[in-house]
Amino acid sequence: MSNLMNTYGRQPVAFVRGEGVWLWDENGRRYLDGLAGVAVNGLGHAHKKLVSAVCEQAGQLIHTSNIYQIRRQEQLAERLCAISGMERVFFCNSGCEANEAAIKLARLYGHGKGIAVPTIIVMEKSFHGRTMATLTATGNRKVQAGFEPLLTGFVRVPYNDLEAVRQVAGHNHDVVAVLVEPVEGEGGIRIPDPGYLQGLRDICDQQGWLLMLDEVQTGIGRTGSWFAYQHAGIAPDVMSLAKGLGSGVPIGACLARGAAADVFKPGNHGSTFGGNPLACAAGLATLQAMDEEKLLANAATVGELIVRRLRDKLSGVAGVMEIRGAGMLIGIELDRPCSVLVARALEAGLLINVTADSVVRLLPPLIMNQDEAIQLVDGLVPLILALLQEARP
Ligand SMILES: Cc1ncc(COP(=O)(O)O)c(C=O)c1O
Repeated sequence: MSNLMNTYGRQPVAFVRGEGVWLWDENGRRYLDGLAGVAVNGLGHAHKKLVSAVCEQAGQLIHTSNIYQIRRQEQLAERLCAISGMERVFFCNSGCEANEAAIKLARLYGHGKGIAVPTIIVMEKSFHGRTMATLTATGNRKVQAGFEPLLTGFVRVPYNDLEAVRQVAGHNHDVVAVLVEPVEGEGGIRIPDPGYLQGLRDICDQQGWLLMLDEVQTGIGRTGSWFAYQHAGIAPDVMSLAKGLGSGVPIGACLARGAAADVFKPGNHGSTFGGNPLACAAGLATLQAMDEEKLLANAATVGELIVRRLRDKLSGVAGVMEIRGAGMLIGIELDRPCSVLVARALEAGLLINVTADSVVRLLPPLIMNQDEAIQLVDGLVPLILALLQEARP
């Protein structure tokens, strides 16, 4: 027993060192990382450019305060706007905080239009975080149960269903925004139909709503482009980022554009740590290394290889429902709960994840090469086949 609060069902291993896509535990055993700290360590572990940028910044200045100007923050905001087409950035420390900022921005935007109860459309099976506002927005009762009363000001519709959104538009005049993941990550790597984001963009334009994309999991190269919406050829009004942005140094960001760009005024929102020099140096080094090492292209190619190889080996096997992938965001849906695979994979020296009970989730570091990807698939497939041959509980 440790003194930690009992919030996680942890695996019985502690890692002490990492290099590239590999981690070592306290006994010197090596593991292949197919999870990247849940979509965080895009550069893998102990990436030299990241380590030297963080060390150099730590030796100069770790933190001042948002009471003062922070050049590293301005530089990171400029770079993020250049790669995203957004115009303004608010920095915080995590994904839920980035979504909190988006929710507050949408409410302020609504009040500015004279709407007394600004309402945000959110999706079934979504995940946006565990603060009160973001767990209310989350479409998973397990995340919400016990924390009632939830917030008001949200209406929920099925994911990937434009007609449901149009129906809300027809009768609810309090709606100010749609908050949606371009691919539902925690919900089971659910990839919407090709026209979905474009359709949401059109509805938001017609209604004067903000399109707010939660790119916390999909952003920073995970799907093979900087941001998942870029595959759809649209732009959001608001976007939330975190996870991969700081390669493990905590940082989140809420980006805005157009009518959303200047909604916040001094005093509306803030964060003590948000966007401090250390976190922003990590963000800048992450984006620079991704550029220099062409990691967007790598995520696309190696992600495709993983999906192709999984399909070659598992398609048509009884119990395998679907294999889905968007770059290095990959899900294998089985017909039964499979969380036991996490421990079995660990025993086999592989780090993987299971989400939505029955979906094996792979989120490898974006630096993973083809040989390592083949090792990951070839290590995982026998575990899935063995599970599917067992009598169902
Ligand atoms: C899409 C999405 N939004 C928000 C979050 C919450 O991020 P954080 O855990 O950094 O608060 C997550 C975390 O898994 C996520 O996947």
